[in-house]
Formats: sequence, C-alpha cells, structure tokens
Amino acid sequence: MSSRDQFASKIGFILAAAGSAIGLGAIWKFPYMAGNNGGSVFILLFILCIFFISLPVLIAEFMIGRRGQKDAITSFKEQAPGKPWYLIGYMGMIMAALILSFYSVVGGWILSYLGRALLFMLSAETTAYGDLFNAIIQNPFEAVLTQGLFILMTILIVQAGIKGGIERASKIMMPALFLFFIVLVVRSLTLDGAIEGLRFMFVPNWDYLNGKTILLALGQAFFTLSVGVSVMLTYASYLGKNENIGGAAINVAVMNIIISLLAGLVIFPAVFALGFSPDQGPGLAFVIIPAVFEQLPMGGFFLILFFILLLFATVTSSISMLEIVVSIAIGDRKASRIRTAWIGGFIIFLIGIPSALSFGVWSHITILGKSIFDAVDFLTNSIGMPIGAFFIALFAGYYYSTHISKQELSTSPPLYYLWLALIRFVSPVAIAIIFITGLLAA
Ligand code: PHE
Repeated sequence: MSSRDQFASKIGFILAAAGSAIGLGAIWKFPYMAGNNGGSVFILLFILCIFFISLPVLIAEFMIGRRGQKDAITSFKEQAPGKPWYLIGYMGMIMAALILSFYSVVGGWILSYLGRALLFMLSAETTAYGDLFNAIIQNPFEAVLTQGLFILMTILIVQAGIKGGIERASKIMMPALFLFFIVLVVRSLTLDGAIEGLRFMFVPNWDYLNGKTILLALGQAFFTLSVGVSVMLTYASYLGKNENIGGAAINVAVMNIIISLLAGLVIFPAVFALGFSPDQGPGLAFVIIPAVFEQLPMGGFFLILFFILLLFATVTSSISMLEIVVSIAIGDRKASRIRTAWIGGFIIFLIGIPSALSFGVWSHITILGKSIFDAVDFLTNSIGMPIGAFFIALFAGYYYSTHISKQELSTSPPLYYLWLALIRFVSPVAIAIIFITGLLAA
C-alpha cells in the first residue's frame, strides 16, 4: 500500500475525477447524440439517467475503490474472496481500453485542428467547415498519426504517476475552459435565428421518446461520468479514508451536466442560425465551434486557445482509461509503471487503428450496419457500460451489508437511504429494462 500513489488533497481527487468525467463526452459526444436524437427529449432523458441511475453507481464505484485501496480486479477479489465479482474489474479494463481506442481517434482530430489553427489554416467559408472536417478525418495517414500522437501524450502522463502536474494544471485549465464556454454561449445565442436552437434543446418533441433513445441517453449518462468500467473505482482507490465521496460524486455529476448543457448552448443556436443541420453525427462540434469562433473578434487566435483547453480536458479523461489498465497490470507485482504504460498504450493504439480508418479508407466495412468506429462505441457505451454498472450496483447494494455502505458513505441518514433505495431498486431495475428494450429497438 505504501508504494501506491495517493492523492495529495481532497481537491486533487475531485479534480482528477472531474477531469476523467469532463471531456469529449460532454463537449463532443453529448451535442451530437442530442442532435441525432431529437434534442430536448434526449437531453431530458440524459439528465434523468444521470441522477437516478449513473450518479448512484458513481458513488458505489467510489465506495468500492476506496474500501479496496487496490486495482479494480484485486479490490473485488479481496472484498469478495472466492466469488466471481472480480470479473467486473476484468470487463472494466477491457471496456476502458476499447473506449480509449476510439477516444484517441477523436483526440487525434483535436490535434489536427490544433495544428491547423496554429498555422492559421483553419478558417473556411462558414459553410465549408463540414468539408474541412471530412477532409481531415478521411485522410488515413493523418488519422493514424494524430491518433498515435494522442496516445503518446496519454502514455507520457500516465507513466509519471497520478500526482504529477495534473492536479495543479487542472486548477487553471478547467475554469479557463468554462469561461470560454460562457463567451461562446453568449456569441451563439446572439446570432440571428438562435432561438430555433433553444427550441430544439428545450421544447420536447415526443416523437423521439422510444427505447432506442432511452438506451442511448443511458449510455451517454454512463460515458460522461466514466461510470461502469471501474475507472472511477480505480481513482478512488488512491483516496484516503476521510473524504466525503457522496459530495465529490454529486460535484462531478453537476459539473458535467453544466458543461454538457453549455456545449449544447454553443452548438445548437449556431447550428440553426448559420444554416447547418443538427444531426450530422460525430463532426458536429468540430464543424460548428470553429464557425462560432469566426463570428468573434480575434476568433482565429482564441480558437487556438480553445483547442488547447479542449485537448487538456480530453487528455485528463484518456489518462484515466489507461490508468485502470496500468494499475491492474502493475497489481501487487511491482511491475514497472513505465513499461506497462508503454505496452498498454501501444496495444490500444493498434486496436484503435481500424476505428481511425473507418471514416476514410475503411468506411465501407460495417458491423451490424455500423462503421467500425460506431460499432466499438456502441459495444462499449450501450452494452459494456450498462452491464458493468448493473453489477457494480448489485455489489454495493446487496453484497455490501448496510453497515459497510453506511460507514463508507458517512452522510446524513436521509441521503444515505435515498442512495440505498436508488442503488438497490431504481438503478439495477432501470438498467435491466432499458438495456433489454433498447437492444431490441436498436
Ligand atoms: N467521461 C469521459 C468523457 O466524457 C470518457 C470516459 C469514459 C472516461 C469511460 C473514462 C472511462 O470524456
């Protein structure tokens, strides 16, 4: 235990957990998922899923991890000797690696954009941003190169250990990103015709209320909080005994919802005001955000800063995915952190190459009607995360005695019983129903 890192401070843990949570999920994925699924209804379902399903499981992960003080597999093995619960850890590790394999592709796009922005080569006629995006993601060399570079950055940070400079840098970068969003929201909302975007986000169009939308909203609620794959469990294993994990979890969830909504408020008003369509898929944020910057004084310059901050937010998420793999590989064996980070990162890079190519040269290859990128996304988000979250909920809700969970959560009785009711009944039952009906409808 003494050889394991620990977070220097409570704020360090919250920043790391928030860093894992806040990333492309809120800024890139949330807007395009909402855009593809009718806006308002998806957003409403997403928020409900966070509070009733995903947040209670996040608290459960914090509990299990902090109690275990070990990597995701060992934590389960030691707390439930001879029982198969540790399979949750294995599955989490595989899912986190798969998520990183396609996450790094999008991280690569950020590098592509940042490179161009630095050379002031990112401006286009407003309507041509879509073509620019397509040209970037379709180029196989650039896609694989930037994906590799992104993983390289992730490896370099993870090999240095969890404390490093991340805690300190987060304190400046995350608030800065938040400020940028506020400015962008103001610009976007003051464009002519912006009101259509607000309507899209907040006036429900019930046609979209179906099993598939609910499953996608649930997947997004897990993805954005990094829940269900034992990543948060791993972070909490570096946490000392005296922290209030319930409060930390609520903080992380609320911050995430705020950033997601801000991203939506930048993108959707501009989508309608500038004549784009909301359902254009993974390119949405990459097409619209530069177009909004174009409407700002010194937009080209601020765009550079924005992409640097976005890159930072993305890397603080990607390191958490590599960290679970590395912490498991290190285990109690005292294997070298540096070697494991490089080997793990390299394997994930190889697994991600087909996803990187699936927008260009391999776009004709489909799995169950989805591109390789979308298929890996669906497998992790809509299948792996719900299954992982389901069993984590059972573990904390039923395997733990109420004596243990009460002691771990150490909050006031009403809040504790609220959590207990959610984790025992609401979360697992809702996940099971949504999962089955969603898969049938997908
Ligand atoms: N929550 C991260 C994001 O929104 C993604 C993530 C998923 C990170 C799963 C870790 C584990 O960008």
